[in-house]
Amino acid sequence: MSESLEGKTVVIVGAGPGFGRTLALRAAEQGATVVVAARTASRLDGMVDEVRAAGGTAIAAAVDATEPDSVRALRETVSQHTDAVHGLVYSAFAVPSMKPLAQTDHDQISRGIDLSVLGALRTTQEFSPLLEAGAATPDSEQADSAPASSSVVMMASAVIHHSRERYAGYKIAKTALVALGHSLATELGPRGIRVNTVAPGYIYGETLKGYFEHLAGKYGGTVEDVYAHTAEKMDLRRLPGEREIVDPVLFLLSDAASAITGQTLTVDCGEFHT
Ligand SMILES: NC(=O)c1ccc[n+]([C@@H]2O[C@H](COP(=O)([O-])OP(=O)(O)OC[C@H]3O[C@@H](n4cnc5c(N)ncnc54)[C@H](OP(=O)(O)O)[C@@H]3O)[C@@H](O)[C@H]2O)c1
Repeated sequence: MSESLEGKTVVIVGAGPGFGRTLALRAAEQGATVVVAARTASRLDGMVDEVRAAGGTAIAAAVDATEPDSVRALRETVSQHTDAVHGLVYSAFAVPSMKPLAQTDHDQISRGIDLSVLGALRTTQEFSPLLEAGAATPDSEQADSAPASSSVVMMASAVIHHSRERYAGYKIAKTALVALGHSLATELGPRGIRVNTVAPGYIYGETLKGYFEHLAGKYGGTVEDVYAHTAEKMDLRRLPGEREIVDPVLFLLSDAASAITGQTLTVDCGEFHT
């Protein structure tokens, strides 16, 4: 068992049933204490049970990332368990409009920005004292260990690399999230806090399978047809699975990435060369 997150506390905000669940299990497997946070308490409890059943440590805490008081309550809950956080992953997502801008009302765009961008900002601001404490915690007594830092990873999307018509609302929010990551990296770097974004092309898990079912129903054909058509554009002719997105996030959380901040890592089986 790898132990690259041993002794660290990692908070996942927007922990959903696919990527979030897999990240929680993998981070715990690597030795982290994991806090899973989203709005659906019953799902979070299920994730905690799974982590514990696998021998890991996890805590569930409900949060609505669009509500400042709720984010503060999450931080207070985490503070009851620990004085230091070493990793924060912001993954909260709600299906955007998927219509051209001409048919998208501005409230939909605002809601996307509030959840994806301002949610990430308010969460990072709320947790920055705990993250700073995490950065000050020596992880190892060994002289050759990496300089201590803590790590924020924000989940963007490879939509930042294209301008397909129906993705405009999503692109606006995720591109602003990348810009936020750059500015926070500059602002929080002196406190030892690294900030990076990960831009998955697709994450082939439950959420995407549901969307492909919707497309298959709408345009005819099967989920396999939609998959094949989509995968044609990838150098590797396939879509990344959950674990292939989770592992780069674990790398950015780990000390192996101790000098990496202000970056966007595209993980898309080679659809875009950035
Ligand atoms: N799936 C893909 O193919 C894909 C591709 C590119 C990028 N991404 C990005 O990767 C990340 C993970 O994707 P995913 O497919 O795993 O998403 P997901 O299944 O939808 O999980 C995200 C979770 O965010 C939570 N959430 C929504 N609103 C929230 C709020 N106000 N406060 C707190 N949590 C909230 C939801 O849980 P609750 O309803 O319980 O709150 C949801 O389960 C997202 O940021 C997404 O944009 C995904």
